[in-house]
Amino acid sequence: MAASGARGPGEAREDVAETRRVAVLLSGHGTNLQAMLDAAAEPASGLAVALVVSDRADAYGLERARLAGVDAAVVRPADHPDRAAFDRALRDLVAAARPDAICLAGFMRILGPEFVRAFPDRIVNTHPSLLPAFRGAHAVRDALAYGVRVSGCTIHLVDEQVDHGPVLFQAAVPVEQGDDEASLHERIKREEHRLLPLAVRLVADGRVRTDGRRAWVPEGSGAPHDGPAGRRSDPVPPTGAGEPHRGAPVDRAVQT
Ligand code: GRF
Repeated sequence: MAASGARGPGEAREDVAETRRVAVLLSGHGTNLQAMLDAAAEPASGLAVALVVSDRADAYGLERARLAGVDAAVVRPADHPDRAAFDRALRDLVAAARPDAICLAGFMRILGPEFVRAFPDRIVNTHPSLLPAFRGAHAVRDALAYGVRVSGCTIHLVDEQVDHGPVLFQAAVPVEQGDDEASLHERIKREEHRLLPLAVRLVADGRVRTDGRRAWVPEGSGAPHDGPAGRRSDPVPPTGAGEPHRGAPVDRAVQT
């Protein structure tokens, strides 16, 4: 089934003044939800977090939703006979919120095809590594264990594989002497908080086009960072190998 009122992939909305509705799925602390809520609270943001769903009743993100006056729900796998039934319950709940975009903000479950196929090119995930390196639930720990000098975050569309869909944005974050998992993750999250609302906005506006692994925003669409990163007069120098430059993002604002 499709989300009620959902459009096809890459189908831009004409009614630009309309508020875009976002559903956020999470499992934990919800700092990325907070970034979405803060972005939506900006005057004239045109964004509204319409629904928050957690797979865990103890997720602090639910409290953030409550404080912001946003509808929140818990959908637990344990309450369903199997994975497919969990996916369908989640899909139906999210579809009922009529989202223009769905944001996975620290949602620690793999979404099955029943869910993903209902919202083609409308689901955005944030992952705390520079994909395709360090997929999975322990990306920051794994990157540190590998000894990388630079890690970061990837904001990407969700397909039916884990941590895999077309890349929307990436930002590099240098690993510092003495970093542990918490300190590195904290700095990575700062980049996630900056980029996730931008990516969700582009998707909610229907401005992102995809072709296989590539995602881009057509020029003249009025999107932030309009046009492919490689061809705009990009103020951001490429990150030198082994020479991380602190705080300088390598936003890949939607590539060709
Ligand atoms: C983020 O780093 C996200 O990339 C990862 O889980 C973390 C969630 O953080 N999947 P929070 O719950 O938004 O604070």
